[in-house]
Amino acid sequence: MSNIVEKNQNYKKFVLDSRLKYFKPHATEIQKSFADEIFSSLGRNSKFIHPKFFYDKKGSELFEKICQLSEYYPTRTEISILNKLQIELLSFLDDEYRLVELGSGSSVKTRLLLDVLSNQKTLEYFPIDISEILAESSEELLKDYEKLTITGIIDTYEGGLQFLKNYDQKKNLIIFLGSSFGNFAPVDGYKFLQKIHQTMKSGDMFLIGLDLVKENSILESAYNDSLQITSQFNLNVLSRINDELDADFELENFVHHAIYNEKDQRIEMYLKSLCNQSVIISKSNLILTLKKDELIHTEYSHKYRLSQIHDLLDDIGFELKHTWLDENKYFSLTLVSKN
Ligand code: AVJ
Repeated sequence: MSNIVEKNQNYKKFVLDSRLKYFKPHATEIQKSFADEIFSSLGRNSKFIHPKFFYDKKGSELFEKICQLSEYYPTRTEISILNKLQIELLSFLDDEYRLVELGSGSSVKTRLLLDVLSNQKTLEYFPIDISEILAESSEELLKDYEKLTITGIIDTYEGGLQFLKNYDQKKNLIIFLGSSFGNFAPVDGYKFLQKIHQTMKSGDMFLIGLDLVKENSILESAYNDSLQITSQFNLNVLSRINDELDADFELENFVHHAIYNEKDQRIEMYLKSLCNQSVIISKSNLILTLKKDELIHTEYSHKYRLSQIHDLLDDIGFELKHTWLDENKYFSLTLVSKN
């Protein structure tokens, strides 16, 4: 026990009970504050708010609602694929594996993967997430899986992966679901996959869920739903800035704007200013001026072709094991290993 702590001097260990613990870095490192990040991303010519800021309590609730929308096919489709890959996935796992999740995800998907591993002698789940909501879903999981132990890592994905690298010899099945990877700009995404590859041990596996290129109208409807939940989700980031950074965004002066950029294979989401206006963001020390029709970029959601997914993973140095698809070929789950 104390051995683990010694090996990870930078983390503080919290033991909640015999089956639930978590690690948290001592110092919040050089991590820039919300106020500083907003200062630099809005205080420039092409204005931007990073999509990680969508997920405050309200934003996370709205995202849950998005996942239930009839137009938003990714969640439902990925779950349907997970439901049918269970036995086949097991055939690629020749040892005991621990489930490591980037993000704490929806417990529906986590459960489907825990089910796959539940015949092992031990069942371990390591969610890596920057927010502390980790603990909330854990109790339910512990109730339903008798053998399960959960070790949360409260850190950035990069930090958590680095932590895991030196943790022990047990093999890891790392999962990154929901096409969250699609948020990365290509260069950053490439670097992130390199980081994953570099922190994996030989024999570790990585399962990534990616959304696929399809008809424009299907893509655009998924981000312009008729109930306007995606619009609320997008605008909510402005409320968050109002609340947390003492700003005075008037939400009626902005609209949600989402289009599919076919050339770059991505949904681009923006908040569009409806008039010439200025906004004070007190805690960022910023006075923002916006012209009528000016756009604040809030998200990319990249879509991929199968060949691109395979080339990318291959290029990083992964060994391709299998790709699972739904019958419409809307979404993909790809398993790779590091040898
Ligand atoms: C969580 C990043 C995968 O890109 O589809 C949903 C976020 N944004 N609707 C996505 C999102 C608007 C979602 N990801």
